[in-house]
Amino acid sequence: MATLAICTSGGDSPGMNAAVRAFCRAALTDNHRVIAIQNGYQGILDEQFFVLTPRDLGMIINLGGTFLGTSRSKNFSTPQGLGTAANHLHKKDIEALCVVGGDGSFRGLMALSEHFNGKVFGIPGTIDNDIPGTAYTIGYDTAIETAVWAIDNIRDTAHSHGRIFLIEVMGRKSGQIAISVALASGAEEVMVPEHDYNIERIAERLKKGHQRGKRFSIIIVAEGAGQGALEISKQLKEDYDLETKVAILGHIQRGGTPTAYERLMATQMGAKTYQFFKDGLNRVFCSFQEGELRPVPLEVTQEKVRTIDPDLISILRSLGN
Ligand code: F6P
Repeated sequence: MATLAICTSGGDSPGMNAAVRAFCRAALTDNHRVIAIQNGYQGILDEQFFVLTPRDLGMIINLGGTFLGTSRSKNFSTPQGLGTAANHLHKKDIEALCVVGGDGSFRGLMALSEHFNGKVFGIPGTIDNDIPGTAYTIGYDTAIETAVWAIDNIRDTAHSHGRIFLIEVMGRKSGQIAISVALASGAEEVMVPEHDYNIERIAERLKKGHQRGKRFSIIIVAEGAGQGALEISKQLKEDYDLETKVAILGHIQRGGTPTAYERLMATQMGAKTYQFFKDGLNRVFCSFQEGELRPVPLEVTQEKVRTIDPDLISILRSLGN
């Protein structure tokens, strides 16, 4: 019997609970001891540990957020923080730590593994779907579903009043949510942090559309594109005399009931990650590639940057006439 521990770290995402449930239930079925850590890496520093039973994992598969709590801990990543965290894990005889989080959390996990004698595993969890080495991260499907629902409502007003709407979606460093949401909601334009945008071209396009009889326009702006939607709106007014409305969806996209697809992916990722432990692996995360869940070294998540497929942007622009 081994002692395993789990925490969620960084921004919460719908489906994290389903992943925790699957990892822990699989370990408990094999009679291991499972310790839950509350509030992410900060909880390791604060020794917020409790022993999980299968009953603690009931009624959570359908819940958004993370029942364990999460944090973005500044203290954890210091040499002193990492040493303290490792000591706290050793004191509890923890042999393996699983972290559900994004690339920043995985960076912290790798740093911790320099001090911690046990094995470490990652489950990709962030609405941004921007972790290199995996085509899917837990929370993405629900986030785009929520954003598309909100945009459908805004479209009613845009159409009724004949307005141009700039809708800002999450993604400080990544335009993955923005491009998916733009395609799924039939938006005319998208602005993402990965590519420079040409405001003059966009203004021209909006004006030409209007001349052709287009009644309304929807433009999706990732929060990290330029200075964000409010600034772009100001620029369109000041430089091109275009009146626009801004809707910032913000954290509404981070919460809510995980979709069925989300729960399916999260459950498989959780169970598979426990299998990696059983197989004797270490320092890997559960990646989704070519339709399969595979163990991939955590280092891969730090090497490359996930880019936006330019074909998707071309498709969007070719359809928005
Ligand atoms: O990483 C997920 C994410 O929602 C990003 O899209 C966003 O930029 C960031 O987190 C916001 O973080 P916070 O809630 O800590 O402000």
